[in-house]
Amino acid sequence: MIFKNKVALVTGAASGIGRATSLTLAQKGASVIVTDIQEEMGKETVSLIQQAGGQAVFYPLDVTDKVAIKEVIVKGIDQFGPIHFAVNNAGIGGAIAATHEVSDDDWDRMMDINLKGVFYCMREEISAMLHHKGGSIVNISSLAGLNGFRMNGPYSVAKHGVIGLTKSAAAEYATLGIRVNAVCPGVTKTPILDAATEIMEAVVQARVPMQRMGKPEEIAQSICYLLSDEASYITGHCLAIDGGMETG
Ligand SMILES: NC(=O)c1ccc[n+]([C@@H]2O[C@H](COP(=O)([O-])OP(=O)(O)OC[C@H]3O[C@@H](n4cnc5c(N)ncnc54)[C@H](O)[C@@H]3O)[C@@H](O)[C@H]2O)c1
Repeated sequence: MIFKNKVALVTGAASGIGRATSLTLAQKGASVIVTDIQEEMGKETVSLIQQAGGQAVFYPLDVTDKVAIKEVIVKGIDQFGPIHFAVNNAGIGGAIAATHEVSDDDWDRMMDINLKGVFYCMREEISAMLHHKGGSIVNISSLAGLNGFRMNGPYSVAKHGVIGLTKSAAAEYATLGIRVNAVCPGVTKTPILDAATEIMEAVVQARVPMQRMGKPEEIAQSICYLLSDEASYITGHCLAIDGGMETG
């Protein structure tokens, strides 16, 4: 129970990595503010936490809605007290298209959710953490934030941007008790891959030394490590969690 008396906010917590992270945080003792645009599945995350003896509350939240982010943070603090941890995880996979075929709408949607959504959340989380004298944030980037990503350039741009935000904020708040890190998952078995399962299986066979996809629980454990005091001297780091894919 290393997170006893800690409060954590997770975006995109209805599914995949966000749900696994919420469950892992709660298993370690944190009270979890579960947020997502998918209400039923978000409430299911809360039920799973409560069935396992943990504490959680669900608030609907679209990370492109700046006003709603502020409101959710206020409600979360009212419910559980100051927020110590934030996991900016909500994201979409985006359209598969070569650069010359990317539409304005697809570009804007990707930036709105995967990049601006992280920024809007960080802005409010950091303000709250400064007020309560500290905290720890983990943003979910991707291996596509470290490399180009053929046929999904906007996703790669947004995830590179998340790393820029992570490193900049890490430096800004390093003496103010706030650490900011990112994880860069490789191919991880979650619903985001449903539209491209066969392509991703082929990528794993060709490029992942461990020859398997990651599990959301494996990403969750690394996120919890970076949030925890065990990582007290780590800030501005982007941790690849990829079965060895980055070895080239
Ligand atoms: N699965 C992978 O292979 C992989 C690899 C690298 C990075 N990631 C990143 O991990 C994060 C989680 O994705 P996942 O794989 O668990 O997929 P997922 O589809 O299971 O989960 C994404 C969650 O984000 C939510 N969401 C989408 N748009 C939202 C919005 N506007 N506001 C709030 N919530 C929103 C969805 O409802 C969903 O619950 C994403 O940022 C994704 O880009 C995933």
